[in-house]
Amino acid sequence: MDWIIHPLPAFRGTLRVPGDKSLSHRLALMCALARGRSRLLGFLDSEDCLHALDAMAAMGAGVRRHGTTVEVEGTGGTLQTQAGDLDMGNSGTLTRLLAGLAAGFPVTVRLFGDASLQSRPMRRILEPLRRMGADAVAEGPGERAPLRLRGGTLDGIDFDSPVASAQVKSALLLAGLRARGTTRIREPAPSRDHTERLFRALGLPITREGLQATLQGSGGRAPDLPAREWRIPGDPSSAAFWVAAAAANPGADLTVRGVGLNPTRTAYLDVLREMGAEIAFSPLREAEWEPQGDVAVRGAVLRGVEIGGARIANLIDELPILAVAAASAAGVTRIRDAAELRVKESDRIETVARMLRAVGVEVETFPDGMAIQGGAAIRGGGVIESAGDHRIAMAGAMLALRATGPVTVRDTACVATSYPGFEAALRGLREG
Ligand code: S3P
Repeated sequence: MDWIIHPLPAFRGTLRVPGDKSLSHRLALMCALARGRSRLLGFLDSEDCLHALDAMAAMGAGVRRHGTTVEVEGTGGTLQTQAGDLDMGNSGTLTRLLAGLAAGFPVTVRLFGDASLQSRPMRRILEPLRRMGADAVAEGPGERAPLRLRGGTLDGIDFDSPVASAQVKSALLLAGLRARGTTRIREPAPSRDHTERLFRALGLPITREGLQATLQGSGGRAPDLPAREWRIPGDPSSAAFWVAAAAANPGADLTVRGVGLNPTRTAYLDVLREMGAEIAFSPLREAEWEPQGDVAVRGAVLRGVEIGGARIANLIDELPILAVAAASAAGVTRIRDAAELRVKESDRIETVARMLRAVGVEVETFPDGMAIQGGAAIRGGGVIESAGDHRIAMAGAMLALRATGPVTVRDTACVATSYPGFEAALRGLREG
């Protein structure tokens, strides 16, 4: 499926975005472990997260879904022993988190997925899981998916992660749940902390001190987790497409309601403000397990900035759309320390550079980032290839809104992995 996007000068409106992907994944797993019926409100009904629900149903949970409301009848900590082959689709997050969970329970599973998933690095979780005692192997070359796991009772480890990755941290915390002893994970920079917050909300013995997360395992017994109702905020990574596009578009005036405002996810707002964006946010329901609120933005002429260092982990998924904002900003924006972009759903240093060049924006790439020359006209008539990467397709659509004529975005079905309804939201904005 292709989109032909026509320019849209200043846009105005109010919208909501679908539920957070990271939270939907984690809740699917943890509610399947809990004792009794949990209710998830605002679950992300995207392909990635539906794979998570199917996987947990195969592992013994009772799952009923009505749109974005999901009821999960938990297993009380006894996952199905022979879960078989589970389809992870396009989702690196689901694969890594589920591998960690399965490794710590007496289950046998094989996790497979699409061509993009088979290119994602898995040694980063397999190696520490094996150190914990798991029987975890990869079928693909260079330790890539499909993965085969025969889980059991593991031993906690002390692990210094070479990458600031919430997926690695979360995989090991999930593996550490039922382990003997303590699991300690240190990361080079703080990654998103959803797993720590969720574990705390479930009453699990987890602590966080500086760059270290520490979890006391339950010593081979099923962890006793309560069932409850969870309200999932809108995904900041989805909101970022609208917020960044509006911020860089003088005359635009946009509010996104009910968005996650977890401080490990809002670095994109800090960057946009440094670029000169007018953004206000009002945190609501601070007492909730994950902060959320409304984000209001007014368009302005932005200026180029430096994006690098420790905050990269907290805006890694927003870099494609920040690159789009940079294309309309005055001067150069430099993104550094972002080599992780090369191992996302596509090599996002190359696919972002190709996207920008397709509409005449000058970009230089580095092994760990890129320099974008902003401020020139965004040329109509170009063709942007998504390379099957949902965030490139959506960033490409937002870039096209600023072009001098229609732009084609090719291969856009992938948007369904994270943002069902994106196209309808775009239409809604056009119709005012
Ligand atoms: C995620 C963590 C990030 C992010 C991904 C979702 C998560 O990956 O890019 O989309 O849910 O933990 P890394 O932690 O591997 O960078």
